[in-house]
Amino acid sequence: MAIETWFPLAIYYEDLEGAAEHNLGMLETILELEESGYERRAYDDMAWTGDLHGVQQVHLDERFAWIVSQVEQHTVEYLTALGVDLSQVALHIQRAWPIVSRQEQAVGDHMHNTAHLSAVYYVQVPDVNMGDPGSLVFLDDARVNEVCPGLGSENTNVVDEANFYNQLQASYVPVEGRLMLFPAKQRHGVTPNETEETRVSLSFDIVLTAKPGEAAGSHEFLMPPVKQWKSFGAGPALRISAEDMTRE
Ligand SMILES: [Fe+2]
Repeated sequence: MAIETWFPLAIYYEDLEGAAEHNLGMLETILELEESGYERRAYDDMAWTGDLHGVQQVHLDERFAWIVSQVEQHTVEYLTALGVDLSQVALHIQRAWPIVSRQEQAVGDHMHNTAHLSAVYYVQVPDVNMGDPGSLVFLDDARVNEVCPGLGSENTNVVDEANFYNQLQASYVPVEGRLMLFPAKQRHGVTPNETEETRVSLSFDIVLTAKPGEAAGSHEFLMPPVKQWKSFGAGPALRISAEDMTRE
């Protein structure tokens, strides 16, 4: 008998050189940003996430310049491995925010629906010997081997052997100084921080558009360059500024 497996989900990670030099400074800044953000909007068992609390542009904050350049560099590596021709594509960090997870706090399952790629970087991770510090769990919605839809759901006991072919999730224990990249549409969540220490990470959302030129606007699957967009609606007219254009 032979069984082969196909259609792999590609999750990228790299343990960044020089992380220890930068983590302490970023940690202090993140805790300051948490303090200065909106009043807490999440339930007690949910981690504090900057995007819900007015702290979602750390990619434009010089204090995060090191990790931003690492995200940029590794995004190029990841997309190159996925076979993307980067001469036709412009990359943009659309938003970036910290996550602070204290004891018993988690992040519910979600996707990053306005982005194409997502990244997470671990600034501070509690000692795993004290318990699970909150694992990043990817959930499989494609279920290519689930021959009857729903057969493997938690409401049935029809699939009685958990194995490689029917696994519905993949779990990564966080590692301090590690950067991970994954498709933004992949549903994921973070399990509760079972330690008494604080777990701190940064999330980044990345968008691909066409580079100016022949490909710009000619593909239904690749957005035209941002500088070709025209904003409209109520309120003062918004035009992309010259400064924004140089970011392209
Ligand atoms: Fe996420």
